[in-house]
Amino acid sequence: MQSRKTGHTDGGCNKNSYFCTKLTAVSPKHFLSSLISETQKMSGRIGWQSPSNIALIKYWGKYGQQMPTNASLSFGLSNAFTQTEIEYSSKENENANHRFFFEGKENKNFESKVLKYLEDISIYFPFLKQLDLKIDSRNSFPHSAGIASSASSMSALALCLCSLEQELVGSLQEPDAFYTKASFIARLGSGSACRSVFHGYTVWGDFNELIESSNEYAVPFSYEVHPLFSQIQDSILIVSSEEKLVSSRAGHALMDGHPFAEARIAQSKQNMSWLLAALQQGDTDRFVEVVENEAMSLHALMMSSKPWYSLLHANTWIILEKIRNFREKTEIFVCFTLDAGPNVHLLYSLEDKILVDQFVENELKAYCDNQQVIEDKMGCGPKRIF
Ligand code: PMV
Repeated sequence: MQSRKTGHTDGGCNKNSYFCTKLTAVSPKHFLSSLISETQKMSGRIGWQSPSNIALIKYWGKYGQQMPTNASLSFGLSNAFTQTEIEYSSKENENANHRFFFEGKENKNFESKVLKYLEDISIYFPFLKQLDLKIDSRNSFPHSAGIASSASSMSALALCLCSLEQELVGSLQEPDAFYTKASFIARLGSGSACRSVFHGYTVWGDFNELIESSNEYAVPFSYEVHPLFSQIQDSILIVSSEEKLVSSRAGHALMDGHPFAEARIAQSKQNMSWLLAALQQGDTDRFVEVVENEAMSLHALMMSSKPWYSLLHANTWIILEKIRNFREKTEIFVCFTLDAGPNVHLLYSLEDKILVDQFVENELKAYCDNQQVIEDKMGCGPKRIF
């Protein structure tokens, strides 16, 4: 590893680092909180905006309570985000009243999931039982765009809950404590959501080359990242916006007893090590090799599960071939990654945007559902909106 800096890559975000590199592990008991005084009358409103993220080293397979079987690395997006708002007041009746709205409308299906989640994490926020809550959440991207919203929505909610704790109990004053708890709480809602709490490249899962890394929460990658990778662009090619046939939850479960499970863990470690070095050295060849290998390995694991399944569409394959040919022809830094679905994330440098936009327009759009392409890029992380 090269020298560590005090902040981390901000992709032009102009943020001071809000996270000091922790060298000691934090265990779940550090995240416990307390009740508030019953005589204290409370009311207020808190809102956070938090982005979706795209993994370059994929988390696939878990155990226990959302613990990853391998470490993963991602960056947060800019335009794909969730805004969540909590209105709170001292409870009026014996039982607290918690309601959830999606885009301003009551949504009983989402509400029951959110209420179950609040119950599951109540040990970390005991004061929730003393408050009436109205939670309202909305996404910047259409529900049908094929972009997973669990990372942005669970991280936005976790950040709101931590701000609530800071306002009522005052125990999360230090940014380090605040964001680490938010990441931990987001993870309990959806594993990959824990990485959305930070900006820049973010690692979740124990990895021996990063002493501060943890299975319990994500940490920002705190070494200097080469400028080539600090303003990375992501054009998301929407091949299909239909709901996928096999959920990530079911996919993770199929890694239990998977014949390639051990090999996958070894592969992810080697890829992580290569990618961390490439990010610092500006090694685009290695970046492309690792990132595409991770994407294809994720889908190969699905295809070799029992029962097997595939989330890729015929048009996904055509797009992947075209990207490879375009890279060979132009020799520019451009590659793809895939989430657990058929849509393609086309990654490249800001300096090549004009050329890549033409390529997308002329050669790839035709293979997208309704010619849909979502222009995104590395973002500046979550922000408090009120
Ligand atoms: O966080 P989950 O349980 O939705 O799983 C996400 C898994 C992948 O998106 C495929 C990979 C990742 O690391 O984000």
